[in-house]
This record gives sequence, C-alpha cells and structure tokens, in this order.
Amino acid sequence: MSAGPKIATAGNRSKNPGSLPNPSLAQDKPVTLSSLAEMKALGEPIAMVTANDYPSAGVAEEAGVDIVLVGDSAAMTVLGYPSTVPVSVEEMLMLAAAVRRGLRTPLLVGDLPFGSYEVSDEQAVATAQRFVKEAGCDAVKLERGGSSVERARAIVAAGIPVMGHVGLTPQTATALGGYRSQGRTADRALEVVQDALALEAAGCFSIVFEAIPSDVTDVVMRQLDVPVIGIGAGPATDGQVLVFHDLLGIYDGHAARFVKRYANVREQMVAGVHAFAEDVRARRYPEPEHGYTMAPDERERLHQVLENRN
Ligand code: KIV
Repeated sequence: MSAGPKIATAGNRSKNPGSLPNPSLAQDKPVTLSSLAEMKALGEPIAMVTANDYPSAGVAEEAGVDIVLVGDSAAMTVLGYPSTVPVSVEEMLMLAAAVRRGLRTPLLVGDLPFGSYEVSDEQAVATAQRFVKEAGCDAVKLERGGSSVERARAIVAAGIPVMGHVGLTPQTATALGGYRSQGRTADRALEVVQDALALEAAGCFSIVFEAIPSDVTDVVMRQLDVPVIGIGAGPATDGQVLVFHDLLGIYDGHAARFVKRYANVREQMVAGVHAFAEDVRARRYPEPEHGYTMAPDERERLHQVLENRN
C-alpha cells in the first residue's frame, strides 16, 4: 500500500492501544463515507472489526479502527445460536444501541438480519430506518446480490448508506452448499463479480468480500471504485475485517481458515473466573480492602440500640 500522504483515519490519529482512554480522542473527527473513499484513493488500508456490546465498542474505539460492524455473527458469538439465521431485528437493535453508546469515532454499520429486508423495498427501508433511528447506526449492511441489489438501491434512495456483502453470505449458506469459500469455478466467480458490480451500481458505499479466492478479488478490484473490505478474500482489498470474538480468541466454536488469532482472551477469562471461585471456596476473598467500614461511634450506637431492644 501507499507510503504517500496519510489522511486522518481513526487508526493513525494518535490512538494509544493498551492505555486508558487517550485525551486526544476528544479531538478526533468521526470517520465518514468520504474519508473512507479518500483512504481508498490514497491506498490507506481500512481496518474494520465487529463489536456487539458497550465494552467491545470501547475497545474498538481505543484501538483506533475505522469501521465497526454490529455483525449478525453476534447471533453465534454472543447469543449462542447455531447460525446467523435466527437472530431477530430486536436482538440486533439492542446490541447495536449498546455499541453506539460506546463508540464515537469509527463509522458504525448495523447488519440487517436474515428475513428483515428480503421481502420488499418497503420492508428493507423500514428495517434500515430502525437501525438508524433506534440504534444510532451510520449505515447498514445487507448480504448477497440478486434481489438484495434492489433492496440496497431502495435503502440508499431513502438516505441511508449501505454496505454490500458478496461471496460467502452466511445468511444463505445452506443454498450455497454450506460455510465454504465461493467463486472457485469461473462461473461462480463471474456471479460474485456481477453481484459486486451491481451493488456498487445500486449505490453501496462499500462492499465486503467474504471467503473468495484472491484471484477473483484481484479481478473485481480492478473494476470497483468503492472501498472493498475483505475477510478471507486475500490481500488486494482496500481493507480487512475480522470478527472481534475470533481475533481475540473469545469464541470457542469453529474458526474459519481466514481467522488470525491475536490473543487468547477466553483462556484468560476462564483462568480469572476460576481463580475467583477458588478464592471464594478457600475464604481468601473478600479481604479487608474489599469491604466497607463504619465509624466506631456509629458501630457502638448500633450495638446499644440493638441491646436495648432485647
Ligand atoms: O456478521 C459479521 O460479522 C459479518 C462479517 C464477517 C463481515 O458479516
């Protein structure tokens, strides 16, 4: 990527990962659609991560990512469903609103869940409006080409920015033959290319490419003007996204080949809770510094009142 002039992205604006919230965060400007387009133009990689609650939003903010997605992967990583299909609009809105409360700088994108936008343009616009009005999202994401292209166009016409998502689209994984990479035959690759071009023509400001061969990505990248965010789509995309629970090692379910683990947080969480339980059982917790005291005269008076009652 370019070594040229850097624009003020969330990632290069003096964030200080690992420290307490940096006072300079107060001077940061929120990431916008135009700053993302500018990043693409300058070859500045875009970092996107999912977040599903207030603390993970705070982590994403402090770490300085550019885009936060309240992904419907939360169905599995947070809500324990076997796939992304069952999660409801209400559940997603609750998670997105919590993320909004913890987020200031990155662009906030809410994932429209399965069944909440496919039926008609009216249904798609109404659901997208809820994500903006009730949860404070800046944009929404929907999956697939085909009929989703018209839904994307309708939402964009209603004034809400839309991110597309092609390749492996987990909401319709059954129809795709399971959770497997897409575009590995020339015919299927052409479909992915067509879907991406159609979503861009419909007005999507960005498109996620999931689990497609790098060769296919290379071909589409030459034809698209909007920023492309990859997940298992090779290095040629304008940015990369990973699921928070995957990259930090919190989710203990199956991890796709494209997941890179940057931490083993679940192990640390289990160790911490285990140590607490051991302390409770051994009466090592609480210690004096964890308790509250009473002024001696108040304690004395309490005892006297109780004694006089007997
Ligand atoms: O739901 C999700 O987390 C996603 C990302 C994988 C892009 O759609």
